[in-house]
Amino acid sequence: LTRLKIAIDGPAAAGKSTIAKITAEKLGYTYIDTGAMYRALTYKALKGSIDINDGEALGELLEQTEILLVPSENGQAVKLDGVDVSDAIRTAEVTAAVSQVSAHNQVRELMVEKQRNLGSHSGVVMDGRDIGTHVLPNAELKVFMTASVEERALRRYEENKRRGIVSSLEELQEEIRKRDEADSNREVSPLKQADDAVLLDTTSMTIEEVAKEISRLAKERL
Ligand code: C5P
Repeated sequence: LTRLKIAIDGPAAAGKSTIAKITAEKLGYTYIDTGAMYRALTYKALKGSIDINDGEALGELLEQTEILLVPSENGQAVKLDGVDVSDAIRTAEVTAAVSQVSAHNQVRELMVEKQRNLGSHSGVVMDGRDIGTHVLPNAELKVFMTASVEERALRRYEENKRRGIVSSLEELQEEIRKRDEADSNREVSPLKQADDAVLLDTTSMTIEEVAKEISRLAKERL
């Protein structure tokens, strides 16, 4: 039985983690949310008043940090130095700072090393920004998932609503635009479609349709 490495990259709020979770569950693979890892470090830096422009300080902080992705009833929980921070890393404050933290070379080098270790066995679905281009260049299936910024903001708006958070659609659009721009224009492994990735525009697709298409692409490669 062949087990694949699947890389799912794309801009913010495209539904990558929703789809990655469903795919991993269907195939019995491990799901690795790399964005959660950058968010966990960002949360710790903000809490410890570390300057998010100081790459060296952030790299040192990361060396003294344990980030674990553990199975939970909601799919996956994020543990930072033994504490569950799954909700704390999704706040607007963390979201606003994460692109700056993750742009530093000192941060990325260590994170990528951790992610490659987590993905060293086959049967993984990893989502992020640089998985197909940098973290798992040999992944058998690479998907670049996009949707219009309006649709992505709407999806985030609905998701927030379900979680009891009231948000402004315009503000969400603005936040998503800004984060995509920062992630696409940084020097170290920016957000970019890998040459051998399948482009999937999900603007007018349902979650079920996207999940089905990814399963089909995975089966082709088994
Ligand atoms: O996927 P998510 O929106 O949680 O990612 C949060 C942020 O983490 C991204 O906006 C990006 O700045 C950073 N990130 C990254 N490389 C990855 C995953 C996330 O730089 N592989």
